[in-house]
Amino acid sequence: MSRNSSLQKRLGIGLTLGATVLWLLGVAASGLVAQHEMNEVFDSALEETAQRILPLAVTDILNRESNTGNRTAPALKEHDEYLTYVVRDRQGNLLLQSHDADPGIFAALPREGFTNTSTHRIYGASAVSDTLYIEVAEPLAHRREAALEAGIALLVPLFVLIPVSLFGIWWVVRLSLRPVIEFQHSIEARGASDLSPVNKDRLPEEFEPTAVAVNRLLERLNRALDAERSFTANSAHELRTPLATALAKVQRLKTQLEDQHLKKNVVEVEQALRGLSTLSGKLLELAKAEGGGALSQQPHDLVPILAMISRDFEPLAPGRIRLTVPDHKVNSLLDPDAFAILARNLIENAMKHGSVQQPVDVIMTDDGRMRVCNGGDIVPPDQLAVLRNRFSRHDTRAAGSGLGLAIADAIASGAGMTLHLRSPATGRADGFEVELNVTDAGRNPGPCT
Ligand SMILES: Nc1ncnc2c1ncn2[C@@H]1O[C@H](COP(=O)(O)OP(=O)(O)OP(=O)(O)O)[C@@H](O)[C@H]1O
Ligand SMILES: [Mg+2]
Repeated sequence: MSRNSSLQKRLGIGLTLGATVLWLLGVAASGLVAQHEMNEVFDSALEETAQRILPLAVTDILNRESNTGNRTAPALKEHDEYLTYVVRDRQGNLLLQSHDADPGIFAALPREGFTNTSTHRIYGASAVSDTLYIEVAEPLAHRREAALEAGIALLVPLFVLIPVSLFGIWWVVRLSLRPVIEFQHSIEARGASDLSPVNKDRLPEEFEPTAVAVNRLLERLNRALDAERSFTANSAHELRTPLATALAKVQRLKTQLEDQHLKKNVVEVEQALRGLSTLSGKLLELAKAEGGGALSQQPHDLVPILAMISRDFEPLAPGRIRLTVPDHKVNSLLDPDAFAILARNLIENAMKHGSVQQPVDVIMTDDGRMRVCNGGDIVPPDQLAVLRNRFSRHDTRAAGSGLGLAIADAIASGAGMTLHLRSPATGRADGFEVELNVTDAGRNPGPCT
């Protein structure tokens, strides 16, 4: 049996086997006791029969006129005899026998008391000053048959006991384990961002320490993640002002410089500062996205927000974005700010990493499916699988820090949606596509709501 096999199966088989073995031992013990008791009863019946028949046989023999009378006791009705008897004198001469008796089974000379032959149990008694002997024989097969029938009668309940016990144990164990299975499902069902304590109220006592340990672990993890998020958010926030000041100063310096070589160096510093500023902005977005708040209390129409964000990108590459949205509302519980951050990152990626010769399709369908597709080189599946990790970037010449997809993914999973990345894009031979359904938001909410 594998170490991971089901507890229900193990208990069912183990307890049923145990009960069966105990029952068999019980059957063997009671069989032996029953056999002993039956032997006593049979012996007593044998003795009683001999004592009863002997006076009748003696009277019958003594009343015979000659020694040559009928030696076989007549049967009133044709029947099989369990008990047979012979009456003999001390020398072993046969004087009387029951009609089915076989004198061959008795010893040559009569004996008093109980004796066993290989086939019969015999009881002998004497009368008339030990001159006449009666011996009553009973076949041992008769006793064996009686013992066997008693044993079988005791074994029969076993055929009912085994299935009933298997089913009963399976059912009781299933019933007892139900809270444990619910506990397991409650852990499985929660999203990666749900670190709230698990409910241990209905758990059996034995499992309570596990639930306590799980809750303690979740609490520590939650605290560690909170600390990490607030550190990221605070650092990004604190960096904003000095970065903006430094950028402003560098820009002023750039205008004051005449020397082209120095000017080129200052432009490089300006670019580095811009990169840092974008990075701190993205870090702040990521900290917020991972901190929760991706769902709102009321549904909002996301179509105008998507249209507005697409328009914001329009000046960068006029006519490149092809926006397709339904002419009616698409309501979602996704927080509008969170949706704006998500959409901006996806469209920015498509514009930045996609082939500039090819358009970017931003599509929202009636049922809330949103797709952002662009042309460009195919991203291999192994790379595709890790792109949503923080700071993960595929072969690209565009500037960036590798946080955009991590932010989008954190918002999507925080709201209970799934972000699908595909390359090539659907309906194209190349390119990249991101798809999600905004109406899924809030259907499987975590504690970040
Ligand atoms: N629309 C896309 N087309 C092609 N490649 C993409 C697309 N979106 C993302 N990628 C690939 O995934 C990588 C990770 O994207 P992500 O948005 O996380 O980072 P980034 O855009 O490089 O930087 P950041 O978003 O932080 O400015 C990108 O570097 C790029 O290689
Ligand atoms: Mg990006």
